[in-house]
Amino acid sequence: MNNMESDERKTVTLSENITIRTATPADIKILMHHRRRMFFEMGYTDEAVLAGMEATSEPFFLKGLANGSFHAWLAENSSQQVVAGGGVIVFDYPPSARDSSPKRPIIVNVYTEPEYRRRGIARKLMEMMIEWCRAQNFGSIMLHASDEGRRLYESLGFQQTNEMRLMLR
Ligand SMILES: CC(C)(COP(=O)(O)OP(=O)(O)OC[C@H]1O[C@@H](n2cnc3c(N)ncnc32)[C@H](O)[C@@H]1OP(=O)(O)O)[C@@H](O)C(=O)NCCC(=O)NCCS
Repeated sequence: MNNMESDERKTVTLSENITIRTATPADIKILMHHRRRMFFEMGYTDEAVLAGMEATSEPFFLKGLANGSFHAWLAENSSQQVVAGGGVIVFDYPPSARDSSPKRPIIVNVYTEPEYRRRGIARKLMEMMIEWCRAQNFGSIMLHASDEGRRLYESLGFQQTNEMRLMLR
């Protein structure tokens, strides 16, 4: 399913007038802004490293929006400025005893502009992304938590896994 072709707006009930809509390729710059600021705030402050990441991320996410393997949601204020966002990448993954699906969703790029934080916007985006994954019939959802996001994810039911990683460069 590729719901990126529609720009259907859904109004979420928060303390102020925030609407959440799906992203399109025209939103690539704001999606990159979220990705870059997210890593910056997680401590990756080397601008050259972030620029390198953006250079490879932009075509990756544009391709995903075009072929339906990446779905993103953006929250806008009443002036239609984007104030937060988050997305789901769906990728091939080996079926396991815990989850027999040959595809897995991973939630990425969760970011709220500082002046809009602690109003429940990221929670609402997360709930919508979880709901979308449920509707696609996936068996589980992956994500990598920042320190700032961990409590929110735990409160939504995410649990630590046994994933390990060997860095090669
Ligand atoms: C993590 C992040 C996305 C959370 O965004 P947010 O929109 O502030 O998230 P929410 O408002 O839904 O929840 C954040 C906290 O505010 C609290 N909150 C929600 N509504 C609130 C309200 N009306 N009043 C006070 N607190 C509130 C939530 O309970 C939550 O508390 P907790 O962290 O102690 O669990 C945001 O801090 C951010 O962008 N950080 C930098 C990038 C990052 O780390 N992204 C996550 C990558 S995995």
